[in-house]
Amino acid sequence: MNNRVYLFDTTLRDGEQSPGVSLNAAEKVQIARQLAKMGIDVIEAGFPVTSQGDFAAVQAVARAVKGSAVAALARANFNDIDKAWEAVKDAEQPRIHTFIATSDIHLKYKLRKDRWQVLEAAVAAVKYACRYTSDVEFSAEDASRTDLDYLCQVLEAVIDAGAKVVNIPDTVGYAMPEEFKQFIESIIQRVPNIDKAIISVHCHDDLGLAVANSLAAVAGGARQVEGTINGIGERAGNAALEEVVMGLYTRKDRYNLVANITTEEIYRTSRLVSSLTGMMVQANKAVVGKNAFAHESGIHQDGVLKERTTYEIMNPTMLGISKSSIVLGKHSGRHAFRQRLVELGYNLSEEEINKAFQRFKDLADKKKELTDQDLEAIVEEETRQLPNTYDLSYLHISSGTTIVPTATVGLKIEGKTVEEASCGDGPVDAIYKAIDKITNLHLVLEEYIINAVTGGRDALGDVTVKLRRADSGRTYIGRGVSTDILEASARAYINAVNKVVYEESELQGED
Ligand code: KIV
Ligand code: ZN
Repeated sequence: MNNRVYLFDTTLRDGEQSPGVSLNAAEKVQIARQLAKMGIDVIEAGFPVTSQGDFAAVQAVARAVKGSAVAALARANFNDIDKAWEAVKDAEQPRIHTFIATSDIHLKYKLRKDRWQVLEAAVAAVKYACRYTSDVEFSAEDASRTDLDYLCQVLEAVIDAGAKVVNIPDTVGYAMPEEFKQFIESIIQRVPNIDKAIISVHCHDDLGLAVANSLAAVAGGARQVEGTINGIGERAGNAALEEVVMGLYTRKDRYNLVANITTEEIYRTSRLVSSLTGMMVQANKAVVGKNAFAHESGIHQDGVLKERTTYEIMNPTMLGISKSSIVLGKHSGRHAFRQRLVELGYNLSEEEINKAFQRFKDLADKKKELTDQDLEAIVEEETRQLPNTYDLSYLHISSGTTIVPTATVGLKIEGKTVEEASCGDGPVDAIYKAIDKITNLHLVLEEYIINAVTGGRDALGDVTVKLRRADSGRTYIGRGVSTDILEASARAYINAVNKVVYEESELQGED
């Protein structure tokens, strides 16, 4: 059996189905490029039939990505498949991913079809998709709760119809690792033409077993694993791809399988996804959590100092995590700044370096020493792919325990500064009300999260906000960093507002 495992990333489709997450086309392209850089084999960019916005985003990803296949999702009907193909056809390697549920519970309550009708629809969909491309994947939704005989019958039929990949989703995260491994082994034994297709698995994390189930399935013979960065996705999420990759890599002695991943890009990909989706990575999260390589107990620290492998089974540098060293300060020049960014793995244009360097200089005036994490935070903010309709010019706050908080905000719009002032329940509320007066948008602040990028009193404050448009109910994530947490709060809000404006201009462009 082939020892190559293909990685299929669905951060932009299943991941985007996480409650409250919504990515615009520019953000999807930015993440997709990073996934391609990381070596992901297949990037599922979206579900084009669901909205005009998703269609446009899938098309933009298909056109931008080089080196990875780009997949679009479609239910097992001709209209969905037409839309999926239309969106993805310009990709270097386009894939159509069509699915229908096969478990009795879904047939009875959701589809109201019998087994024969579902089998027929699956075969017709695969045949239809194959008229467009030979790269067709079929998913039997809720496969892990499907009668095995019937599932095997469906798989045999869709492979005969031309499916090159057959996906076995554990849609509701119900499977147990040993059982799921046997399930895959049984499929291999029972489906006579299985050698003509790759078996894929797609595990959800309802019982916290998505990664364990994916690895068990691979041990059973699956050769494509689907998942998302940071494990985001519907309900409890999907298998975290970075964990699957590091499981395969760290326990190569057991699996003897290879995946084509540049592991040094894992951490940066995780950060980017977290930043653009607003889904925080928990500190103790495996592989990419803030504490994943932090050693608190004296015995552990002593062990690691003597020999890293006493308490570390992975080398953080393999994941692209730099040691938190103090690197640059006020007197550091452009050359040193650029050099450090290259060492951190950034490949920025001259214009991006200029913007980031300017921001670095402003910060270095306020904060004596800037760490790698500080630099990463600046670069993430300054290299966003969205046009900034609004830029922060200045901010004045008057606040305290005995006065009404008041903010005066100046925003630059097309080179001119517009000023407004407002009172509020607190200084952040006052700032946001002043910005609302300028933008004339009616936005509801749904979430406000503040973190410190590093330790210390002069640490950068990192603010993430989630705003909801009162009219459409759509949500937007914004993020801002600064040594001043009120400035970071303003920057985060303005970032989200710029996304609202960008989306409006995109929609107007389509009319
Ligand atoms: O969870 C699931 O079953 C899915 C399919 C569409 C592959 O996301
Ligand atoms: Zn799923």
